[in-house]
Amino acid sequence: MDIRDKYIVLTGATGGIGRAIARKLSNDGARLILVARNEQRLAALMDELRGDDHRAVFADLSQARGRQRVLEVCHMTGVSLLINAAGINEFEMFEKQSPDDIQNLLEINLLSPILLTQELLPLIAQQQDGRIINIGSTFGSIGYPGFSTYCASKFGLRGFTEALRRELADTNTRVSYVAPRATRTDLNSDSVVAMNDELGTAMDDPALVANEVMQVIRGSSRTDKYIGWPEKLFVRVNALFPGIVDNSLRKQLPTIRRFARGKI
Ligand SMILES: NC(=O)c1ccc[n+]([C@@H]2O[C@H](COP(=O)([O-])OP(=O)(O)OC[C@H]3O[C@@H](n4cnc5c(N)ncnc54)[C@H](OP(=O)(O)O)[C@@H]3O)[C@@H](O)[C@H]2O)c1
Repeated sequence: MDIRDKYIVLTGATGGIGRAIARKLSNDGARLILVARNEQRLAALMDELRGDDHRAVFADLSQARGRQRVLEVCHMTGVSLLINAAGINEFEMFEKQSPDDIQNLLEINLLSPILLTQELLPLIAQQQDGRIINIGSTFGSIGYPGFSTYCASKFGLRGFTEALRRELADTNTRVSYVAPRATRTDLNSDSVVAMNDELGTAMDDPALVANEVMQVIRGSSRTDKYIGWPEKLFVRVNALFPGIVDNSLRKQLPTIRRFARGKI
């Protein structure tokens, strides 16, 4: 897809991964519709980006009114690509998560991108080469202790992406799923970073994730994209032989419980 002068909606624009994607898209001449709740961070991002035809939309995507604001801007500009990157995470053993936190996480990570996609799809479908990219996670394919609700949200997003891609296979709209592994952003609490260090779990730079997203945008592949070795391999092993992953994660459980309890 040639993104020069195209309007692109980027949710989660002020996040670690969102900012890295925004920089690359603006360097390549795209016009961005940047969505997030924090006005100051969104204004700071607008200031640093190349190009002067970007829009900032302050919106809580879990609210119908917030999504409506995005739609209103897109009615004026048109939209060629929607990147659903907004997301939250909570590292907590399941029995400790509050019902409100569970609901909030599922609303932001799963329901909001589904509803926003439905609202913008008629506009994207008007394009010769329309695109939707959902940012998932390795945890959308591998259930991991301490992240049950987050995993549920990303498994759901992956299923939604796959079904919609197949539903739109005979149209001009292409639907993709990009699954980063752990990445150094504010999404991960100090406890998660310390736990990853102890377990030897690699964490990527957001710029690397943005590069992978740019490859998906430029390319024509219709398959999901998983970032990082050995995570790509673990996704396949988990699908074919889940018992092997069960055993290996069982050995990590005491460490995971300690960090979830410690909340350093
Ligand atoms: N970091 C990782 O380790 C990792 C790994 C795999 C996948 N991912 C996925 O990558 C995506 C980006 O993550 P990140 O690491 O960049 O996270 P981040 O740095 O915490 O940024 C999250 C972004 O989502 C926005 N957001 C959160 N709730 C929102 C709401 N209700 N309405 C509108 N915007 C909202 C935040 O902006 P405001 O707070 O201003 O609204 C922010 O721009 C997420 O989908 C995440 O699940 C991340």
